[in-house]
Amino acid sequence: MTDDVRTLDYGDRGRVVVVADADALANMAANLLLTSAEEATAAGHRALIALSGGSTPKKMGELLAVAPLIERIPWGNLDIFWGDERWVPLADPESNAGEAMRGYLEQAPILPDHIHPFATEGIAAEDSATAMERTLRGLQPDASVPQFDLVLLGMGDDGHTASLFPGTAAVHETDRLVVSHHVEKLDATRLTFTPPLINAALKVAFLVGGAGKAEMLARVLEGPVDIDAMPSQAIRPDNGHLTWIVDEAAASRLTGTPTNG
Ligand code: 6PG
Repeated sequence: MTDDVRTLDYGDRGRVVVVADADALANMAANLLLTSAEEATAAGHRALIALSGGSTPKKMGELLAVAPLIERIPWGNLDIFWGDERWVPLADPESNAGEAMRGYLEQAPILPDHIHPFATEGIAAEDSATAMERTLRGLQPDASVPQFDLVLLGMGDDGHTASLFPGTAAVHETDRLVVSHHVEKLDATRLTFTPPLINAALKVAFLVGGAGKAEMLARVLEGPVDIDAMPSQAIRPDNGHLTWIVDEAAASRLTGTPTNG
């Protein structure tokens, strides 16, 4: 499978690793999570991992909960968060955290204390965002912005990432690390990590699969910068470590001509 991998360098916009298909994409993402967890453990600290919602990470998750990865992942050293959440109860099939817990985390040897879904019941959305920010800051009280070891993201065909949607103020947030907002195009409330939190991470990786994403992926990587139209472009990790793991179908419109700026 690895023979089929090619890499495109988009400078500040990231390094693109093109794999054959959805299975290869899930496999590479799962191994990236393993590496991040191992590196954090070797460095003597807990691994802070942010998962994304959407369909792409589901396949990845299923690989984590079976051999060989289930035996290799240092589960006791992980703290799992989600980069965004829908305003529904954990039991709802729309819940990013709920789906991951039912889909694979419940099969993994991780203590419930180390799984940190957003609170979405018995609390106002605004307060849930504040509580999450407080939890995160509490994990690394000396850091101006807590540093995730790995943030996994998806990208919508409209250019959104996490729950940073086109035209929303959250894309320009510079102070708060987590916000709740009403997303007009969905007529729904979403909770989301903001660019300052995501960009402080040690590693950030987008997982993008399928032909439906091809046109937007090419615009995000090769077109003019317009973060209001394409919030995915607001993700520029401070340390420059941005990886896009994409399948051939999603990469089909890339010309391979890196554009910086
Ligand atoms: C969500 C997401 C969202 C998602 C993208 C891509 O909760 O909806 O976190 O940002 O990652 O929409 O989703 P797919 O991988 O399903 O295309």
